[in-house]
Amino acid sequence: MRLTDCYNFHDFRRMAKRRLPGPIFDYIDGGADDEVTYRRNTAAFEACDLVPDVLRGVADVDMSVTVMGQKLAMPVYCSPTALQRLFHHQGERAVAAAAAKHGTMFGVSSLGTISLEEARQISNGPQVYQFYFHKDRGLNREMMARAKNAGVQAMMLTVDSITGGNRERDKRTGFAIPFKLNLAGMTQFAVKPSWAIDWLTHERFRLPQLENHVKMDGGALSISRYFTEMLDPSMSWDDVAEMVREWGGPFCLKGIMSVEDAKRAAEIGCSGIVLSNHGGRQLDGSRSAFDQLAEIVDAVGDRIDVMMDGGVQRGTHVLKALSLGAKAVGLGRYYLFPLAAAGQPGVERALETMRTEIERGMKLMGCTSVSQLTRRNLRFRS
Ligand code: LAC
Repeated sequence: MRLTDCYNFHDFRRMAKRRLPGPIFDYIDGGADDEVTYRRNTAAFEACDLVPDVLRGVADVDMSVTVMGQKLAMPVYCSPTALQRLFHHQGERAVAAAAAKHGTMFGVSSLGTISLEEARQISNGPQVYQFYFHKDRGLNREMMARAKNAGVQAMMLTVDSITGGNRERDKRTGFAIPFKLNLAGMTQFAVKPSWAIDWLTHERFRLPQLENHVKMDGGALSISRYFTEMLDPSMSWDDVAEMVREWGGPFCLKGIMSVEDAKRAAEIGCSGIVLSNHGGRQLDGSRSAFDQLAEIVDAVGDRIDVMMDGGVQRGTHVLKALSLGAKAVGLGRYYLFPLAAAGQPGVERALETMRTEIERGMKLMGCTSVSQLTRRNLRFRS
């Protein structure tokens, strides 16, 4: 299977599955518990239909948006995700470069495998820093200062991961960081040679955001243990309000779902929120961001930028979210599978596919700018 055979999310996913050792594929692909929320995230977009306008003169389409003061050439961005160099040796470098090429925002994770400073050198486009609130307050302060010095535009604090989600696929495979080739891994080495060669011939896997603070030698750390042992479960609105003040720039909370929380985010001075259930990887049974979007936009959309992520696989999914009032839409697995499948050319192809789909969709909807996408053009099935 070649990259040129990939036309959509499912093709990239299939190609990634062929290349990746099973435990790594399952780490990306999996969700929590029964993966109900994971499935619902994409299915939710089918609960409503687009109602197009025609004969509107759609020769020139402008799909740019402004979110948290950042201008994006397209209304989607690459959400921060962890451990990218485990999926392909280029990791975050590929994602930062592809995002820059498409004029959009990307994020570097606290669990990123290149430093946020290096990412800043690769892209001059908007960069967010995905922040986890650790028990170690010194680490939190240092990470904020580093992000500020590096010229990162926006802070994105993940608030839905105060304890590890129940990811049974990872439990079965023993997926942990640093990735070690145990017996099962050895088997994977044999059956996935291109991944294994890639892994063995490139620089050592690192977590530059955390390595000064976290002992990685003391045994493998599962993602669930990282969340549960290192993040501070006592994190409260007061702590976040202090961080927002300390940062003094665009700050958003990722993983807000309730109206009450959205209002509080606005009250403490956040510039944005991302409705998200962490790709169905944390609280299974929680509502999809798309299902919850209208309610949140109605409550706070005039005060802060409402973004959403989860399950987005098509340009028309993005059009539906924008029609409900989202300012921009985050992509996760949508670019991770292409990264795993083919590195930077994969991510570029995925973003180009998305850009083309959005442009085509806007033309077929009779829209030349994102502001023309409104609820007038959307109907929910009863
Ligand atoms: C995950 C974290 C690390 O979902 O974001 O695996």
